Amino acid sequence: MPGKAEKVNMEKLVSLCQRRGFIFPSSDIYGGLSGCWDYGPVGVELKRNVKDAWWRSIVRERDDIIGMDTSILMNPKVWEASGHVTSFKDPLVECKECHLRWKADDLAEDKCPACGGKLTEERMFNTMFKTFIGPVEEEASTVYLRPETAQGMFVNFPNALNTSRKRLPFGIAQQGKAFRNEITTGNFIFRSREFEMMEFEYFVKPGTDQKWFDYWVEERFNWYVKFGIKKENLGLNPHAQEKLAHYARCCTDITYLFPHGQAELEGIANRTDFDLRQHGEASGRSMEYYDDETKEHYIPYIIEPSAGVDRAILAFVSDAYDEEPDKDEIRVVLHFHTDIAPIKVAVLPLSRKENLAAFARDVYNDLRPCFATQYDDTQSIGRRYRRQDELGTPYCVTVDFQSLEDNMATIRDRDSMNQIRVPVPALKDTLLAKLAGEDLFVLPEGGQIWKQE
Ligand code: GAP
Repeated sequence: MPGKAEKVNMEKLVSLCQRRGFIFPSSDIYGGLSGCWDYGPVGVELKRNVKDAWWRSIVRERDDIIGMDTSILMNPKVWEASGHVTSFKDPLVECKECHLRWKADDLAEDKCPACGGKLTEERMFNTMFKTFIGPVEEEASTVYLRPETAQGMFVNFPNALNTSRKRLPFGIAQQGKAFRNEITTGNFIFRSREFEMMEFEYFVKPGTDQKWFDYWVEERFNWYVKFGIKKENLGLNPHAQEKLAHYARCCTDITYLFPHGQAELEGIANRTDFDLRQHGEASGRSMEYYDDETKEHYIPYIIEPSAGVDRAILAFVSDAYDEEPDKDEIRVVLHFHTDIAPIKVAVLPLSRKENLAAFARDVYNDLRPCFATQYDDTQSIGRRYRRQDELGTPYCVTVDFQSLEDNMATIRDRDSMNQIRVPVPALKDTLLAKLAGEDLFVLPEGGQIWKQE
């Protein structure tokens, strides 16, 4: 069998994602729109799970971080003060032969990667999308689609502080869409023009910033491991001083071994007091914090862990992907962590016969309020297992004619393909325990104990 690196490539992932309803090109019937993607019925569940896992870890399970949801369109003065109007630019070159445009930073050689033609001189290109507010397309009403969610949190620092009554260190977190008119897109959902971010701004006392920076690099790295990403596929890439964004004192990327190579998954930046100071000066509003322990006024420093939702999804799918020998064939399976898996349980009646279908429907209706559950009565049972393996469904519940007599159903485990018979009244508790990572069950009916080998 080939090693994992040879098994997973972008072509296979794209094909699986389209075939199984994870991700489609945007406006597909019109030939798509470069750098834009649609999440299908399975993909949308996966996306929710990734965002929920992050929200739980960052907001719900911590006392020091609060959530927000700020608007995409903001007062244009925000982008002047933040430095984006002058500095959010990429170097663009154009091929003189085929007229394709490239981001100069991405090119290894001084010629067009498509046709080998000569390139124009570099010119800087602002990657913020513009649009207009109101009916008159005039300069005064120009607004930007936010290229990061961060600014909504910076400008809300006084609101968040006053209403939450938090003391430093504390953070504001949000998830949401961001837009960048990237010169080149590609590698599936890795670099798009419309994408989703999950980022938070952690406000700290100046002088403690390095400690918190190191803390968050470690925490965020471990978050990916906790949700199933293999440690050996992750890396850390501290940025060289000359590569830093205009706002950052230091930045470390968490990288992942994507099918196209090791690349940035999330960036953790020390933004110093740059953003709050800029917005304080431009708006005339105080962005200072009063430290009642030291009796000092100061502008907090900010540590910002910023992750791309779509990149995290690509990493989760890529890491979960496997091809395993199964009798004479190859079984394609996504070994998702149970919290990440888009569908948790599939109910599969062995036949469509009326009495069995009614029984299976009852089982399905009992389970579906608890977890994302699918009902599938098409094709052979073998094919249905294969389909669920490709969706990464941890458990399949099969009901057969024996079930009608003994009121038991079979649970099939995605990873080991082990099967156990469980009394139907105990199904829900057994699946809940199993999905929570327990491997020891006391079945209510008859008090049996089952432990997975
Ligand atoms: N507020 C900080 C910030 O915006 P960034 O490094 O530009 O930092 C953060 O972006 C994360 O957003 C990246 O690590 C990446 O996961 C994701 N991201 C950035 N640009 C993207 C794009 N064009 N398509 C998909 N994800 C992107």
